[in-house]
Amino acid sequence: MRATPVPEFMLEPAYDPNSDAGTSRDSLGLGRAAGAGLDVRHGTILTLEDINVSFDGFKALTNLSLYIGVGELRCIIGPNGAGKTTMMDVITGKTRPDNGKAYFGETLDLTRMSEVQIAQSGIGRKFQKPTVFEALSVFENLELALKTDKSVWASLRAKLSGEQRDRIDEVLSTIKLESSRHRTAGLLSHGQKQFLEIGMLLMQDPQLLLLDEPVAGMTDAETEFTAELFKSLARKHSLMVVEHDMGFVGSIADHVTVLHQGSVLAEGSLADVQADERVIEVYLGR
Ligand SMILES: Nc1ncnc2c1ncn2[C@@H]1O[C@H](COP(=O)(O)OP(=O)(O)O)[C@@H](O)[C@H]1O
Ligand SMILES: [Mg+2]
Repeated sequence: MRATPVPEFMLEPAYDPNSDAGTSRDSLGLGRAAGAGLDVRHGTILTLEDINVSFDGFKALTNLSLYIGVGELRCIIGPNGAGKTTMMDVITGKTRPDNGKAYFGETLDLTRMSEVQIAQSGIGRKFQKPTVFEALSVFENLELALKTDKSVWASLRAKLSGEQRDRIDEVLSTIKLESSRHRTAGLLSHGQKQFLEIGMLLMQDPQLLLLDEPVAGMTDAETEFTAELFKSLARKHSLMVVEHDMGFVGSIADHVTVLHQGSVLAEGSLADVQADERVIEVYLGR
């Protein structure tokens, strides 16, 4: 057989590492198995205590304390600028807090780990914009998510084990893209790209998933499927979901945290926080 020339897009990952950290898969350490030995003996998977972050004197997070239980599906709401994304930046090591505690399980100090180490330890993050490899097929995107320690081209040439194929099939079914497995990712709808990216995260089997505004721009049907998907992922995984869509939040959340000016303003069931005068004042409106 004649050697086929390597298409240019396969030589380098199709992302600009400087545009947004969400596109920088290698720096996120995707391609590694989640740490199975996480110590969660007290039932808490994530601990944030008295976290402060300031940017040139502006306080983005102020004494933020928040705890996520193992298997919990937590929704984070709050006005723009409340610090939701900054909090995820702290958890994933993208931003270092000025002070405060951030622990994954009982023993992993997130403030002392690199972004890659944090991703490898089992925290997966999905940014708002889908960042799939548009020129590759759905299947190849999932394949790459398994093994990004090599270049894109080397990864696609390396043979998959039967177990890896099964895992890809399983994830394809979870994200309902089985029938699009050979489709070029660039041809998927916006919602399907979001599902594919969630699938890429799932290939790593992360224990904690952080999802920033996952249903923004989705159709109603896609939003409904996302709700089903997240509910099916909870328990086995812990999820932290930032979202403005209250219908969506109401359909999935065990527990809601309202952030305002970098701190927790209220916490409880959606009904509890919706009835809270301070929350109505700053966020929900009258
Ligand atoms: N890198 C940065 N430099 C300066 N200010 C920032 C930076 N990142 C976030 N901020 C500011 O911190 C505040 C919180 O932002 P963010 O966490 O993005 O809020 P949210 O996600 O809740 O909308 C905003 O006022 C934002 O302008
Ligand atoms: Mg944000």
